Amino acid sequence: MLCLGIESTAHTFGVSVVDDKGNVYSNEKDAVSTESGGMIPAQVADHHVSICDDVIKRALDKAGKKIKDIDLIAFSQSPGIGHCLRIGAFSARALGLLLKKPVIGVNHCIAHLEIGRIKTKSKDPVLLYASGANTQVIAYDGGKYRIFGETLDIGIGNFLDSFARYIGLGFPGGPKIYELALKGKEFIELPYSVKGMDVSFGGLLTNLKQKYDSGKYKVEDLCYSVQETVFAMLLEVSERAMAHCGKKELLLGGGVACNKRLQEMSDIMCKEFGGESFIPENQFLVDNAAMIAWLGIIEHNAGVKTDTIIKPYERTDDIEVIWRH
Ligand code: ATP
Ligand code: FE2
Repeated sequence: MLCLGIESTAHTFGVSVVDDKGNVYSNEKDAVSTESGGMIPAQVADHHVSICDDVIKRALDKAGKKIKDIDLIAFSQSPGIGHCLRIGAFSARALGLLLKKPVIGVNHCIAHLEIGRIKTKSKDPVLLYASGANTQVIAYDGGKYRIFGETLDIGIGNFLDSFARYIGLGFPGGPKIYELALKGKEFIELPYSVKGMDVSFGGLLTNLKQKYDSGKYKVEDLCYSVQETVFAMLLEVSERAMAHCGKKELLLGGGVACNKRLQEMSDIMCKEFGGESFIPENQFLVDNAAMIAWLGIIEHNAGVKTDTIIKPYERTDDIEVIWRH
């Protein structure tokens, strides 16, 4: 069985062809990036409209498949920016009508977790989902993927990218902060905001900007210290979620999980905890369509049927996870 998956929750329009064993035949994408300022939803949607047919074609060509070989179409139905989600949903619906094949809508956050499970062979992990817009600690419990902790304001990636922009590193800033942090020598104390099981970055961003403006600190030291601080915050909450749920596996997901220092710190924490840290390849950490196709297959095989209406605000724990019962 072959599924064509479409990802379009935000700046990335991705298309992938995956089979029911989890083999990924292609994983293509085209993403909007800006030199300055943020994304304007209507413009990102225009971008997706202008490239969607090309990305679909590329994904089929790379996979060496014809459109008629596809048995199922999956798309990211939630959560995300309405303008962007709609382009993916519309493309999926059009393909479904054309091919007379089923179309299934899936939740993007759960897709990060399921692609991690198949690609790393972790069985029942706690997911630390650290991306641009999302920062959540998620685990399976009582028939659902539940959120045990999350950011109270901005996502960690947007936080790091905002600081990077402020100090003139451009976008995306995550990888540049990582490079500078390698040269940092002195740890600078920064606000550490873990509130119960949640984290927050707003106050920390203000504090960092003030420290940068004061001219008293080296940029390399600020980058080093910010990584140590925010990754420790995320791992503290993840460790507590593991202890609470009685789980020994921590899976990383989201673009920020490409950061080698976060990966290293996750390994250290898990070893000390008596567990194990699992990290999929970068192409499955960042927003990608392979995870959408794979979750589409899992849900379809479990008998899930969905409409094609987008749900920008749907939460991870709104979904009944019947495929794991
Ligand atoms: P989502 O829609 O899932 O919230 P997103 O659309 O922001 O996520 P992702 O690709 O998951 O997209 O994550 C993007 C973030 O990952 C950015 O903040 C970027 O700086 C960061 N990032 C990407 N690659 C790296 C890297 N190699 N090292 C550190 N950070 C990285
Ligand atoms: Fe994502």
